[in-house]
Amino acid sequence: EKIYIGVDLGGTAIKVGICNEEGQLLHTYEGPTEVDKGPETIVDNIERYVRLVVEQSPFNWEQVAGVGAGVAGFTNVREGIIIFAPNVGLKDFHIRQILEERLDKPVKIDNDANVAALGEAWGGAGKGIDNCVCYTLGTGVGGGIIIDGKIYQGFSGLAGELGHMSVVPDLEAIQCGCGKMGCLETVSSATGIIRMANDAVARGDRTELALVENITAKDVFDAAKVGDEVALRIVNRAAFYLGKSLAAVAVVLNPEVFIIGGGVSKAGDILFNEVRSVFAQFTPEPVQAGLRIEPATLGNDAGMVGAAGLFLRS
Ligand code: BGC
Ligand code: NA
Ligand code: ZN
Repeated sequence: EKIYIGVDLGGTAIKVGICNEEGQLLHTYEGPTEVDKGPETIVDNIERYVRLVVEQSPFNWEQVAGVGAGVAGFTNVREGIIIFAPNVGLKDFHIRQILEERLDKPVKIDNDANVAALGEAWGGAGKGIDNCVCYTLGTGVGGGIIIDGKIYQGFSGLAGELGHMSVVPDLEAIQCGCGKMGCLETVSSATGIIRMANDAVARGDRTELALVENITAKDVFDAAKVGDEVALRIVNRAAFYLGKSLAAVAVVLNPEVFIIGGGVSKAGDILFNEVRSVFAQFTPEPVQAGLRIEPATLGNDAGMVGAAGLFLRS
């Protein structure tokens, strides 16, 4: 029996999973990325975790038919290069070649959110749907576009970098990790939400978040749920720009479903209700008709499943 390894390379953790040919995730392993230790350590860690997950499973190395990796950054899929991954500290990095040499297996890479979208389209919230757009709200904001069941790559593999859609008006815009102003990622990522909360506390706004040490995005959502007005304002702002981004994408691509995943999406109704209402406010009725906005269902597994899917679904 052949198996495929899916790797999800993020700024905090590297998740690796074994999939069978049906795309079922059978075994997983997760360890720290250790971004601060630099590229060499990151590659060591990927190799170590990949070998470990196989060792810890009933499968053997000979059964590994391919290793797919989703990486959190601008990715040249054809060349197998990470052009720029601000949250992982990698630049012009020939990751495919390096992993092929280390593992002596065929390797395919793609953007982390692209593979998460593929995972969701394959076995998650987009199952059986040909056209969907996926957003992942985490450290950054990622995007993946699935058209006719396949990842849409665009001219150089950068289609679906939805986190860098510039949506915040000039006067309120701040600079993004990509170097440009007003990106969706600056307001709708966990990082953006935390920054807005820290700013509010520093300004002296009246909020229970002032009592929290090391505010997380979850703290902000929890406070909003119990009626903290400052927290609610921050959540609504994150939801507002996400909703506007969905409206813009909807008129371009006419997807059947928007799938929203990543840690921030765990906020649930308090986020989704506002996103749906902003979307409805800005999207023409015919484009809205039949279109759904749904939470991702594979959760943290989407990246691993989709990365293995680079072999099984292309
Ligand atoms: C990067 C994307 C990535 C996303 C989520 C963004 O900052 O530009 O390539 O998909 O973060 O990790
Ligand atoms: Na993408
Ligand atoms: Zn940006």
